[in-house]
Parts: sequence; C-alpha cells; structure tokens
Amino acid sequence: MAQALLVLDSIAAKSGIHFEYNPQLVGGAAIDAAGKALPAETIAACEASDAILFGSVGGPKWEHLPPNEQPERGALLPLRKHFGLFANLRPGICYPALTASSPVRPDLVEGGFDVLCVRELTGGLYFGQPKSRDTLPDGDIQVIDTMVYKKSEIVRIAHVAFKAAQLRGKHVTSVDKANVLTNSVLWRETMIEVAKEYTDVTLAHLYVDNAAMQLIKAPRSFDVLVTENLFGDILSDEMAMIAGSLGMLASASLGQPKGDGLYFGLFEPSGGTAPDIAGKGIANPIAQILSAALLLRFSLGLENEALAIENAVKNVIGDGLRTGDIFTSAPGTRLVNTAEMGAAIVAAL
Ligand SMILES: NC(=O)c1ccc[n+]([C@@H]2O[C@H](COP(=O)([O-])OP(=O)(O)OC[C@H]3O[C@@H](n4cnc5c(N)ncnc54)[C@H](O)[C@@H]3O)[C@@H](O)[C@H]2O)c1
Repeated sequence: MAQALLVLDSIAAKSGIHFEYNPQLVGGAAIDAAGKALPAETIAACEASDAILFGSVGGPKWEHLPPNEQPERGALLPLRKHFGLFANLRPGICYPALTASSPVRPDLVEGGFDVLCVRELTGGLYFGQPKSRDTLPDGDIQVIDTMVYKKSEIVRIAHVAFKAAQLRGKHVTSVDKANVLTNSVLWRETMIEVAKEYTDVTLAHLYVDNAAMQLIKAPRSFDVLVTENLFGDILSDEMAMIAGSLGMLASASLGQPKGDGLYFGLFEPSGGTAPDIAGKGIANPIAQILSAALLLRFSLGLENEALAIENAVKNVIGDGLRTGDIFTSAPGTRLVNTAEMGAAIVAAL
C-alpha cells in the first residue's frame, strides 16, 4: 500500500490533481485496535469517499476467531455487501517479458496476453434460495442450491463489460451454459440485447466448458470475458494462474454507475496477506499499484493517468526488475525488494 500511495502521489504531482486520502483500519489491524474487523468509522469514511483502495486482510493471528468475526468474512464481504459491489473485474495480464512465469506452454502465451474477466458477484448459485440439506425417508441425503438471476442483474453487469471493452480491445466474450441452463438462456438473450447499445463492441458467446479450454489454448483470443458468479469464480482463478504470479494481479469490485458514468468501487490486489513473506519487505507491490490504476480509471475517470501507471509497470518489467515471486534468474533480470520496485515504477512514470 505504501508503494501504491507513492505512485498516486507521483501522478498527483505531475497532473496537478489533488488526491485526498483517508486511511482507515480494517481486518486484523482493526480487530487489534478496535475489537472489530470492520469498525463503524471505517464504513463512514468509505461512504464519504469516491473509492476504496484496499490492502489485503487476514492471517494466522486471527484464525481462532468465529468465522464471521475473522478479517475476511467480518470485513471484506460486509464491505462488498454494504456498497452493493456487484461487478468484479480482474485483469489477467501476462507481460511479454514474463511469459516464463506462466505455467502454459510458451508458444501459447508468446507475446503475452491481456484478458479482463468481469464476474457478476452478488447473484446466482451462491445467494439463490432455497438452499437446503435434508435426510430423506429412505435415509439418503438431498442437498439443494438454487441459481437465481433477474434480468436487471444481467443488464447491469453487461453494461460494465461493454463499457470496459470500449476502453480496451472492443470485444466481449460472454460465457454461459445456454445449452443446459434456463439462467444462461436469459443471460445470452440479455447480452445480445444490451450489445445493441454498443455498436463499436463485438460480442461472442462461449459455453463455459469451452471457455475453460480456450483460456488455456488461446488466451490471446480474449479481450473482455463476462460471466455469472460461479463460472466467474472458477474462470478468474484459471486466468490468474495462466497469467503468472498472484503478486501482479489487481482487481476492482464495482457498484452501480453514478450519474457521471463513474463507479464507486473497492480496489484490491487479488492475493491475500502473504504471511509467509510478510514484514520482510520483499512482497511484489505491483498488484496494489495496478489496483490504484483501476481506481483512477473506474472511480475517478482518469484514463490517461491509469494508462500511465500501467505503462510504467510494463516498462519496469521490460527493464528486467523482478521481485522474488517473479524472479527466474533469466539473463537481463535483477532481483529487487518492494521499495525498489515501487521506486522504479515512480521513476518510470
Ligand atoms: N482479499 C483479501 O484480503 C484476501 C484474499 C486472499 C486471502 N486472504 C487472506 O490472506 C491470508 C493468506 O492467504 P493465502 O496464503 O491463502 O494466500 P496469499 O495470496 O496471501 O498467498 C499465496 C502465495 O502467494 C504469494 N503472494 C501473494 N501476494 C504476493 C505478493 N504481493 N508478492 C509476492 N508474493 C505474493 C504468497 O507469498 C504465498 O506464497 C489468509 O488469512 C487469507 O484469508 C485475503
């Protein structure tokens, strides 16, 4: 987070834009200081802000607490719920210079790739009712989960995907299982309907099983991938894996667009608190820095500034700087710590 703030400070100094930060405790730090993972002051400060730049929460120290009081369940999930953050965006970027970090065959990722996964976050199978587990009269056990979507929920996530595509490669791949699921039939119909409002964006459809294959076989064929909650949960992790290190991957969780087309959102690295390396000063700050870039793009409408950060990261990686998680001792690379990586990105800006 310290490095991300230095990058934002540098953007502010260059552009003359003034960012006002209101640092608040959350997760384990808040439990230690205030006895609660999500104190009321933190929620109030977020409500008074344009966006939340979130550091990861959690760790062994708080794992003995009841699940609902632990850092993730007690802070992150309630924050998403409180602000109605229904759209989860995860860019899966594999930089050309980092293709060796991808577990996918080199010829399939040569030149790198850049996929934006847009996952519906608050509907579908995870939240639908009824949910039950019953023992039947014959002693067998029956479990039920229900997949529920309203058309309005599909419309709003479709707009997020198409708007994001307009800022990128102008292509949306919608992933469903319309050959089997009634939910997916409505999903597909709705994507086609919303696409008519975005004539500059092309739309393609893939069944989810095929999408899982295509992500590995041809990651470069994707621009924006939009899908429902369960499929997105699985595909976004697959995408993160083929992109290389968790320490590189940012994410955004967005709510309803405001009148000005911008979103209130929560921006955070895809990984957790990395307890195995915490406190050593060697974590990769790029996921947090790229999360700040997403904040500029989606909550503040500062597209050029977001691009400047993303290009600075690309250049520093191209120059061979590597934190431990992405270091492969390839010729022309240099191992750096968190602060050195942050300083290099600021210098590249
Ligand atoms: N959104 C969140 O705040 C969030 C997300 C996931 C996990 N967590 C929490 O984080 C804690 C640790 O979870 P975990 O170990 O399963 O996952 P993790 O993401 O913290 O770590 C998994 C592996 O990735 C590495 N890694 C992650 N981020 C890195 C970075 N920026 N630079 C270098 N290496 C990095 C770690 O060193 C570790 O080897 C748990 O308490 C978990 O609940 C929080």
